[in-house]
Amino acid sequence: VTGPLLAAATERLAAAGVASPRVDAELLLAHVLGAPRSRLLVVGPPSAVDVAAFAAALERRAGREPLQHILGVAWFRHVEVAVGAGVFVPRPETELLVDAVLPALQAAARPIAVDLCAGSGALALAIADEVPSARVVAVERAGPSGPWLERNAAGTRVEAVIGDVVDPAVLATLRGQVDAVVSNPPYVPSAVDVSPEVRADPAVAVFAGVDGLAVIPHVIALAAELLRPGGVLALEHDDTHADAVPALLAADGRWDQIAEHADLTGRPRYAVAVRS
Ligand SMILES: C[S@@+](CC[C@H](N)C(=O)[O-])C[C@H]1O[C@@H](n2cnc3c(N)ncnc32)[C@H](O)[C@@H]1O
Repeated sequence: VTGPLLAAATERLAAAGVASPRVDAELLLAHVLGAPRSRLLVVGPPSAVDVAAFAAALERRAGREPLQHILGVAWFRHVEVAVGAGVFVPRPETELLVDAVLPALQAAARPIAVDLCAGSGALALAIADEVPSARVVAVERAGPSGPWLERNAAGTRVEAVIGDVVDPAVLATLRGQVDAVVSNPPYVPSAVDVSPEVRADPAVAVFAGVDGLAVIPHVIALAAELLRPGGVLALEHDDTHADAVPALLAADGRWDQIAEHADLTGRPRYAVAVRS
């Protein structure tokens, strides 16, 4: 019954330039019907109210409002986070940072992990979910994203800290004790023309000065302060920074085993390094 509805919706989203029109149409219909996406083709005929709600959701998406803002949630590894205006929507490529630090956390007796520039808290929440013994601290600057982090962290083991990674006093009590730091900071050069969906993210979450490197050196310096010797940093960066970020780590002088990694599309995406 929903087949023709989905086909028309897919066509509408494709015409609007949406990158994954069929998946988005299915997720929006599943959201409206309160049904799992896998059951869409076998559910009964939608009511007139549902059809109208689906049409409204579809128009929002055709206007290039992020899918996750319409759904109110984003999925990240095995966790679901609340998102909307004022907070960065977590992206699939960032999921790889968790894999990079899991071994260090699993090997520690009482692991401590820190997520710098935490946004919704997706990375921190995923680590807390996957390493039940870990203490997990998430740092996000004061501003509209802070309440999203606090809301997502509420009732979990993630400790939300409102602070600036540029501030040398942030997390002062954790210096030298942390086993893993993950960070997906803002890193897009300011002149880059981004898609409408990225424009819906807060500018401060996306852009970092003319070269995109305004925040990353502060993350590297703070991570070096926080990590114990042998602790691991996984740091996401722009695909144009495959040389610049490893060079910044090398220049900092406190890192061994600096390695560059690609995301699932093969683009250079994150650096991993071990605290000397
Ligand atoms: C690209 S978003 C990533 C959010 C989250 N880590 C994720 O992957 O979904 C970068 C985040 O860094 C925050 N941020 C930017 N500058 C910061 C600073 N100086 N101190 C702390 N957080 C900062 C932004 O507000 C934003 O939430």
